[in-house]
Amino acid sequence: MTSESIVGGGGSARSAGQASSRQGSAFRVGVIGGDGIGPEVVAEALKVVDAAGIALETVAYDLGAGRYLRTGEVLPASVLDELRELDAILLGAVGPPVGSSEVPSGLLERGLLLKLRFELDLYINLRPFTPTPGSIAEGSDFAVVRENTEGSYAGEGGFLRKDTAQEVATQGAVNTRFGVERCLRFAFDLARTRERKSLTLVHKANVLTFAGDLWRRAFDEVGDGFPEVHRAYDHVDASCIYLVEKPSRYDVIVTDNLFGDIITDLAGAVSGGIGLAASANLNPERTGPSLFEPVHGAAWDIAGKHTANPLAAIRSAALMLDHLGEAEVAARITKAVVEHAVSSSARNTPGGSYTGKSQMSTAEIGDAIAEKV
Ligand code: IPM
Ligand code: MN
Repeated sequence: MTSESIVGGGGSARSAGQASSRQGSAFRVGVIGGDGIGPEVVAEALKVVDAAGIALETVAYDLGAGRYLRTGEVLPASVLDELRELDAILLGAVGPPVGSSEVPSGLLERGLLLKLRFELDLYINLRPFTPTPGSIAEGSDFAVVRENTEGSYAGEGGFLRKDTAQEVATQGAVNTRFGVERCLRFAFDLARTRERKSLTLVHKANVLTFAGDLWRRAFDEVGDGFPEVHRAYDHVDASCIYLVEKPSRYDVIVTDNLFGDIITDLAGAVSGGIGLAASANLNPERTGPSLFEPVHGAAWDIAGKHTANPLAAIRSAALMLDHLGEAEVAARITKAVVEHAVSSSARNTPGGSYTGKSQMSTAEIGDAIAEKV
């Protein structure tokens, strides 16, 4: 293969003779392995892309807990500027070990992953689920469209009288008509292309009467432009029951940032394990690169043990290729991932570890997929 790699973002290991300019028609992809099992699963994803015959010019970015502990940097402005120029970004996982005293909670999440989502205007977080046989959601097939730049993730709020007995903390949720509408348009557009053409808004409109009201009115108004799409609404708590007891109810779900975070972990768990759940953080207007990553986290408990399941990262790479216009190759990789998950579904059931530990090693799974594509 003709793939080349260089090191960006102030890294020191730029290999001699490898140019940083775009090579022929190869896509320039920034690779952020990140923390814990992130680098391990991303390596397998790149292996599969290469085996599928797609040449990438990868630029490795050393970002995450390691860099922070070494240099105090999370995402230097110059690195962000470099990332803006790429065709896409593939990310493993970001976050320190749970309970780490060296990295303040939220510093990497807010300073790196969420910052990229906001700065690159990745306003859609698309998470497709193809449940394996034997999983709770077996037989269903659905996707969650999570709003990715607003809600309680926007960072509105603060402390009053911090560290006193009268301390107050508020954490607001930002819902702009603009942000909600563009998310809904994407979701309706996606639902329109699917066989069942059904879109369910998930919220908590009976309690969050301001945000929920805005979402519901926008849902109806945007939906009027998509008469072929069937509309439904579920409260988020009820949707947790449906995802477990009757997931076939869903085709496409659209929801806000925090609800989307929570229900996609549940959706992963009932679909064969979070180790299979992939995601695309999309800038649909393509004013910059989109970012692709598994739904799971850094899973420090199994880092370095070669047991992490790379299927979610591999499927995320397929979402990336699809976004880059390589739909046929992307479909091939997705099919291989799903087939592998089916054949090994007994081993992918949750319970091993957070990422759905498999009995095959991380590299063996990567090899098996690479052989099929
Ligand atoms: C996810 C993750 C992130 C989120 C964290 C790491 C900030 O849980 O992508 O679902 O909450 O969005
Ligand atoms: Mn999450």
